[in-house]
Amino acid sequence: MSGNPKVLVVASEGMPFVKTGGLADVVGILPRSLRALGVDARVMMPKHAKIKYEYGDELETIATSSIHLGWREKYIGIQTLEKDGVTYYFIDNEDYFSGSVYRGGGVENEQYLFFCKAVCEALLLIDFDPDILHINDWHTGMIPLLVKTQYAQRYKKEKRLLFTIHNIEFQGKMGFDVMKDLLGVPDYYYTPKFVESRGCANMMKAALVFTDRISTVSPNYADEIMHAWFGLGMEGILSARRHELCGILNGIDTEAFDPETDLAAAAHFSAGNITNKRACKKALIAEFSLGVKLQTPIVSMVSRMTPQKGFDLVRYALEELLQEDVAFVALGSGDREYEEFFNYITLKYPAKSGLYLGYNEALAHRIYAGSDFLLMPSEFEPCGLSQMIAQRYGTLPIVRETGGLVDTVAPYNIFTGEGTGFAFSTFNAHDMMAAVKLALSVYKDKPTLRRLRKNAMLLDNSFMKSAEQYKALYKSML
Ligand code: ADP
Ligand code: GLC
Repeated sequence: MSGNPKVLVVASEGMPFVKTGGLADVVGILPRSLRALGVDARVMMPKHAKIKYEYGDELETIATSSIHLGWREKYIGIQTLEKDGVTYYFIDNEDYFSGSVYRGGGVENEQYLFFCKAVCEALLLIDFDPDILHINDWHTGMIPLLVKTQYAQRYKKEKRLLFTIHNIEFQGKMGFDVMKDLLGVPDYYYTPKFVESRGCANMMKAALVFTDRISTVSPNYADEIMHAWFGLGMEGILSARRHELCGILNGIDTEAFDPETDLAAAAHFSAGNITNKRACKKALIAEFSLGVKLQTPIVSMVSRMTPQKGFDLVRYALEELLQEDVAFVALGSGDREYEEFFNYITLKYPAKSGLYLGYNEALAHRIYAGSDFLLMPSEFEPCGLSQMIAQRYGTLPIVRETGGLVDTVAPYNIFTGEGTGFAFSTFNAHDMMAAVKLALSVYKDKPTLRRLRKNAMLLDNSFMKSAEQYKALYKSML
């Protein structure tokens, strides 16, 4: 590994330990892929309750210490574990990490202000001295400021920082008094030039100002976030630093999501022999007790139920869609209004709709394997992994042309007959329905359907391409 930078990936969640969304997928697969490229990449994250219960016996404590958050003295423990060749460091403090991964509101801000400072302190305590700190999303946003101010004289060698934006919607906003009280950030920084945005102290803004380089998870989203509608207040700093901003498209874990070997799926299939996808579909129909024939197309969603994911369009149009010969399956959880809507739909259309409210990894695999189409009408989408996973299982995504969905789905072209999915551009329920109806008409045209499925399954969505770009980026930062 000599000659390559040493990298510490820092995030709030990561596979295989804790996952609430795609961030965890990326934090899971990135270090493993980097190691395959000869980069010593390790991971640091909070020791969430689930990690304590599932891996408690395997964790080794390497240091205990304390940090000051204002007048409060807070314990930090650093525990470690090696998994699949990657070393993980967990920040232990049960005041902050014994309950929900994200507690919401001011409590959540404090969870991650603590985490940022604990990471900076942990770098003094572990025997790994990274060249690059690759930090992710607002939960890690104060690390660059702390590294370059309070901790600047304390490290043996300079740290270079890469901040990756997975989702700009969540920024870690608070009153400046809170940031000042807990982290001792001086008044001087409370201006739009530093941590202030729209009247608040903002952890994402702090990251964007103090980090050395910025990346996001698709080239298209990198362009979009320089505009106000997508940038949500960050467009100014992003435009100013556009030469230090890049988009590296995510990939997926092609071993975990492999239709040829998937342990959760009812049967196995490949691009060369897709016959068994029918067996997966049959099992899905049975699992949700749907009263439809095997020939009826199944449209699914596997998603956090939030406005970002386009659930307002779905809520508007789903009953109209269910008048067609189609079944609809949803897996996810989130905003109450959407959950209640799906409860209503499953009560009204029990034979044609299936619902699982909650998080279920194995069921997600079975839905990807057994469905015909995956609906993802996102209002915005930094990258999106679900559409890539669906493609790998020959389940054609129906997406809105935004963010990474543009970079990963080639919309079916009625003139050439080619594509790897379906797309619509305006955020409008009727446009979405038109795309869904086009998909349903292609479903009846079996040669075209087979061709599109094969195109989708043969795409190389593996994370290795992404890891190569990250490696090149790290090297360019030294
Ligand atoms: P986001 O990170 O914005 O939620 P992505 O498409 O990038 O969206 O990633 C979502 C990931 O989470 C995918 O791996 C998807 O399969 C998974 N996922 C989403 N909701 C659920 C759920 N309820 N149960 C299991 N997996 C889920
Ligand atoms: C975020 C985004 C999603 C992206 C994921 C992983 O949660 O919403 O689009 O795929 O992070 O980068």
